[in-house]
Amino acid sequence: MHFPRKVRIVEVGARDGLQNESVPVSTSTKLELIRRLSDSGLAHVEAASFVSPRWVPQMADHREIMLALRDGHAKSTTAKSATTYSVLTPNMKGLEAALECGVREVAVFGSASESFSQRNINCSIAESLERFAPVMEHALKTGVRVRGYVSCVLGCPYEGEIAPAEVAAVARELKAMGCYEVSLGDTIGVGTPLKAKHMLERVNREVPITQLAAHFHDTYGQALANLYAVLEEGIAVIDSSVAGLGGCPYAKGASGNVASEDVLYLLEGMGIETGVDLAALARTGDWISRTLGRPNGSRVGQALMASD
Ligand code: HMG
Ligand code: MG
Repeated sequence: MHFPRKVRIVEVGARDGLQNESVPVSTSTKLELIRRLSDSGLAHVEAASFVSPRWVPQMADHREIMLALRDGHAKSTTAKSATTYSVLTPNMKGLEAALECGVREVAVFGSASESFSQRNINCSIAESLERFAPVMEHALKTGVRVRGYVSCVLGCPYEGEIAPAEVAAVARELKAMGCYEVSLGDTIGVGTPLKAKHMLERVNREVPITQLAAHFHDTYGQALANLYAVLEEGIAVIDSSVAGLGGCPYAKGASGNVASEDVLYLLEGMGIETGVDLAALARTGDWISRTLGRPNGSRVGQALMASD
């Protein structure tokens, strides 16, 4: 395979990032973050989760966020084309609430690990797929696009090693149900490049590379190396999080997603287009880190701000 010419970035900081913040984050801060992300040229921003507020309190304002976006309150002032604002919907309740807010793209999220599935969404892998089926069916009927996630593709906090065949099986089911893309999550950031490449090769026997995305966390500092390995296999969609925000509430010790600024710097260095303005994104990363009172998790963001 060869490196792609263009990569689509799916910015997950406002969801995957903020869902794990221990300090409360106001709805207006979230909307400001989302607006700034769109302004930097990101065409796909995951904005909220329609999950139980008891499970993930930080996402409890999903309705307010999505209604505000629908009504244009956080509309980008400079973005060239409309940004897609997607949300997580684990079940019909989540989907119905999201549809009421005018959401046009949702994601279902499964796992390659039985234990993680139980801890994260309170059901087995098989039960989760059964729950997703009507969600998919209803979403597709109403013209809403559905993305699929598989968690723990390179390791699980409860089970350790996960066989690539397990990942491939869940990815195949999600695609068969109608997900337009399946995002492969190294939820706890334990992967290394050759492992990532082998896992992808196995999944790619079931799902075309053009329908796969890499969603890597950076707990062990391997995320960029892992991305390089899967880019070489032809992956052209990368999930990342501004300032490396995040972690996972059901994966103790997991750090944030790979920082979007770091991914952009890598891609720019390889001559791969993204359509995103790195300098603008670095300013947003600096702003949200200061606002949350946390260190900026992007090395590139830190370097750019220091030289500003
Ligand atoms: P459950 O307890 O099995 O569900 O939870 P239930 O149907 O029995 O309902 C229990 C209560 O939740 C009820 O409320 C429902 O109304 C409510 P009560 O009567 O007790 O007051 N409820 C909901 N409320 C709002 N929205 C909903 C909803 N559904 C039920 N959609 C459930 C099952 C899936 C709801 C729960 O386990 C949950 O919300 N889990 C969320 C987990 C989550 O958000 N995890 C983080 C995202 S995954 C991730 O980060 C990984 C990823 O980034 C990829 C990677 O990194 O690898 C995607
Ligand atoms: Mg994640």
